[in-house]
Amino acid sequence: MSAADPPVPALAERAAACAERLRAADRVLLASHIDADGLTSGAIASNALERAGIDHETVFEKQLDEESIAGIAAREFETVLFTDFGSGQLDVIADHEAAGDFTPVIADHHQPADADTEYHLNPLLFGIDGASELSGAGASYVLAHALDPANRDLAALAVVGAVGDMQGGTEGLTGANEGIVDHAVAAGVLETRTDIALYGRQTRPLPKLLEYASDVRIPGISNDEAGAIAFLSELDIDVKADGDWRRWVDLDDAERRTLVSALLQRAVSSGVPASRIEELVGTSYTLTDEEPGTALRDVSEYSTLLNATARYERADVGLAVCLGERGAPLERARTLLRNHRRNLSEGLQWVKTEGVVEEDNLQWFDAGSRIRETIVGIVAGMAIGSPAVDRSKPIVAFAEKDAEHVKVSSRGSHRLVRQGLDLSAVMREASRAVGGDGGGHDVAAGATIPSGTQREFVAAADAIVGEQLE
Ligand code: C5P
Ligand code: C5P
Ligand code: C5P
Ligand code: ZN
Repeated sequence: MSAADPPVPALAERAAACAERLRAADRVLLASHIDADGLTSGAIASNALERAGIDHETVFEKQLDEESIAGIAAREFETVLFTDFGSGQLDVIADHEAAGDFTPVIADHHQPADADTEYHLNPLLFGIDGASELSGAGASYVLAHALDPANRDLAALAVVGAVGDMQGGTEGLTGANEGIVDHAVAAGVLETRTDIALYGRQTRPLPKLLEYASDVRIPGISNDEAGAIAFLSELDIDVKADGDWRRWVDLDDAERRTLVSALLQRAVSSGVPASRIEELVGTSYTLTDEEPGTALRDVSEYSTLLNATARYERADVGLAVCLGERGAPLERARTLLRNHRRNLSEGLQWVKTEGVVEEDNLQWFDAGSRIRETIVGIVAGMAIGSPAVDRSKPIVAFAEKDAEHVKVSSRGSHRLVRQGLDLSAVMREASRAVGGDGGGHDVAAGATIPSGTQREFVAAADAIVGEQLE
């Protein structure tokens, strides 16, 4: 591969047109989404604009809607670059463009609304799946590469964004994302390997790594501190160094193999189904320029750290980290991460304790103010990934947004999507039926609805899911 080869050939022509338009701008307002994918999208775009000498300012929005787009228009920038959102609100954006408010350039991967614009870079327009094959950060990287092929180092952030949007399966990132991974590896900033697929390889002490692994439940180890410690103590490896627990990253290859094979044996002997056992091993992505043993070294831990900033109104902290600042912003991010982890674990526990309400075609819970609206989607995803919740129906979650609005998040599975599920359409149609709005991806989507319309919304969504899966 030569550095000039585009990461996603199908998008190259559109990306070149978008890059050309940005070069012609005096000043650009860069607007992005407040999650890991949105932050990395913003960082990639900001870096690329900076390197190209294009004057710009960066803002983050929780949700792009008529109000936030009007706010953006009021800033009076002639060119607005939207990353990780924009496609779902294309109708509203196109109206502003027609009114002469600004020229939009969009690098996104969400289902487009019914409208079009010239500088619209979205994998879905070129037959590439936006839920699993390319993220907002991936689309932003494609644009950055079109601005200058020397931007290949930025592909590392695009991998963080894709993993943050849960695009990686057990085989790791696939489809168009592989082109991004190849660029990052070729640039020397990323390493891929087959590895234990547990969250916290870099930072968690071994007992915590095993105890907190919630996606595949291993009896006597998962959610069982004493059991995890007993399991580790029986292994023929030094699990402590100077009295402290070692971490996965501290083990050598032989020690890692010993641990993995013991874990797989334990899973088999305690009756974990073969399909779930396979999920214990997968592709890991390591950022080679980052310090070993830190959250930034592992792409998955990095993305959680970013969510811990942006979803708590500290996108500035996450952006600083993505732009390479260490020291104070990183310390701040670590503190936010501890808080985020506590919230996720308390939120998941709450769902497990309270349970979900079963409808014919979906299941739901209403967390009210118990789970923050900015993380209720992550909790819903963790719930449906956990053995406590049935995976045969999509899950819909509500959380209070403000006095008048409720946030809705929904998560499905790839199996349901193959059967016809499209949560993006469910969220858009059911929310519009009750006076709200929504969108997203087939497998994960969200909406905002007026308070008090939850029951009506559930009835509408249940009917639409029923039609889709018929
Ligand atoms: O706004 P955005 O596209 O960034 O968010 C995507 C969301 O979809 C993430 O919260 C991610 O966890 C979720 N997702 C999922 N399962 C997938 C793909 C995405 O839960 N297979
Ligand atoms: O926060 P984020 O969406 O990046 O988390 C991705 C996944 O990582 C979660 O779905 C969860 O399974 C896992 N995770 C975890 N423990 C945490 C944070 C995240 O197991 N403290
Ligand atoms: O907020 P949540 O994580 O549930 O969002 C899931 C997906 O739905 C994300 O990709 C998000 O951007 C999208 N979404 C949307 N419109 C909304 C809410 C969420 O397109 N009103
Ligand atoms: Zn995204």
